[in-house]
Amino acid sequence: MAFAIGPYCVDKPVILAPMAGVTDLPFRRLCHDLGAGLVVSEMVTSDVRLWNSTKSRHRLIHDAEVSPRSVQIAGGDPQMMAEAAQQNVELGAQIIDINMGCPAKKVCNKAAGSALLKDEALVREILESVVNSVSVPVTLKIRTGWSLDQKNGLAIAKMAEDIGIQALAIHGRTRECKFQGQVEYDTIAEIKHHLSIPIFANGDIKDAQSAKFVKDYTKADGIMIGRAAQGRPWIFREINHYLETNELLTPPLYLR
Ligand SMILES: Cc1cc2nc3c(=O)[nH]c(=O)nc-3n(C[C@H](O)[C@H](O)[C@H](O)COP(=O)(O)O)c2cc1C
Repeated sequence: MAFAIGPYCVDKPVILAPMAGVTDLPFRRLCHDLGAGLVVSEMVTSDVRLWNSTKSRHRLIHDAEVSPRSVQIAGGDPQMMAEAAQQNVELGAQIIDINMGCPAKKVCNKAAGSALLKDEALVREILESVVNSVSVPVTLKIRTGWSLDQKNGLAIAKMAEDIGIQALAIHGRTRECKFQGQVEYDTIAEIKHHLSIPIFANGDIKDAQSAKFVKDYTKADGIMIGRAAQGRPWIFREINHYLETNELLTPPLYLR
């Protein structure tokens, strides 16, 4: 079940979603030790002038990161995103992840995160600018599209692959849906069908059985877990075991 992101081998198909305010360094290490195949930093703003704040400093790369060190950047200006990517690589990032998936409306008064999905020309500019500015693999996180009427996730995914994005995570909701309503996995399955790069399916995966269902249904290379890992970081071990053996692990002793 292993796959590659550039020179890095991800040998477990369940990865930790970036969650600002949650997935700090100790949490990332814990999830990695408990079976997450890849962990991504909390997003850092692309405005490097703001990196001197305590919050940003904590979100930048640390010596104690697990490898490969993936850092997520967020912003809406192609040049600033490129500069942020370069500086993170200089600080030790081995993968740059671009945030076009989180519902934060703006970063520094500019559209950012999933708000960018509405403007495909700007998405192209940002992706090209970042991919061309660094020699490490660049990955992307998106939603299924801007809105239920404009579900352009597939168009953005194809564009991303053409530009050189090396792995793609998709949350099965549109930007407009925020976190409401039913998540859907059909668009993720469609994207997986059309692309060759590794795909991570994300959204509302709560346990080993739902992880297996989503992985089988979408044929995604990996599963990305966000909220279900909060307070339950051993979920990665449980999912890995279930995917490998079709058997459920008994819960940790103190939960029985
Ligand atoms: C508290 C919180 C913070 C988040 N921060 C980010 C972020 O910094 N970058 C990002 O791409 N997505 C962010 N997300 C979205 C998650 O990565 C994930 O896509 C979403 O929670 C759906 O997955 P889940 O149902 O497994 O939680 C955040 C979600 C939550 C709940």
